Amino acid sequence: MQIRVIRGQKSKHNSVTQSKFIIIAIDGGAAAGKSSTSRGLSARYRLMHVDTGSFYRATTLKLMEAGIKPSNNSALTDELSALKLGTALSGNTASITINDWVPDKSIRSQAINDNVSHYAALPELRSFLLDYQRSLADVARDRGFDGLVMEGRDIGSVIFPNADLRLYLFADPAKRAQRRAKEGIADSIEKRDQMDSSRKAAPLQVPEGATLIDSSELTLDEVIDKVATIIDSIRSS
Ligand code: CDP
Repeated sequence: MQIRVIRGQKSKHNSVTQSKFIIIAIDGGAAAGKSSTSRGLSARYRLMHVDTGSFYRATTLKLMEAGIKPSNNSALTDELSALKLGTALSGNTASITINDWVPDKSIRSQAINDNVSHYAALPELRSFLLDYQRSLADVARDRGFDGLVMEGRDIGSVIFPNADLRLYLFADPAKRAQRRAKEGIADSIEKRDQMDSSRKAAPLQVPEGATLIDSSELTLDEVIDKVATIIDSIRSS
């Protein structure tokens, strides 16, 4: 794997008064509210936002396009070694690029929803993405952000176990199904959660020391305010 880290001028996010660079790890099942919460926090605290689910979706699309089945280990390893990863920044959000391709809404199709957990269970794919994910903390620092908010399934348990804040978001299944249905794409979120939680490699779990937030009956602003209280206490300590 080659990692191309974006360089260039410091962004407008450079702050005059230097505050502690914070890393926030947000984990949880499908449609638990991770992305909206992460985006809200990134805007409020000038954090670089990273959605690692999109990395698994994008690599799944590339592997499927290449006709590689999750069971074909040697073809998988060969194909992964041909993928050059980079980063594109749009506003506060950093997205992965694969051989200069910036993933678009094609990674949110039903076919990807149906297949992504099969590929995400593969240790080869997880280790291929591991260092890249960790390297994004340096990208956030280089670009002058005040921290990083990274969402996924194994962020607080594997990628950044020492994150300043580990959050685990959940919501009742009916609420989550409702949220996903609003997006208009079929997605068997309970099946995905079941696969993600039961796999051997980096399963979805509550990371040690994580703060649990049930978002079933909370608005997005209420969730963000709850987290903000914790972040403010971390930053002032
Ligand atoms: O947005 P949604 O909650 O539906 O899922 P996502 O965050 O886009 O993640 C899609 C899939 O990628 C998950 O169902 C997992 O199989 C996998 N994933 C993972 O294994 N590890 C991560 N850190 C993030 C996602």
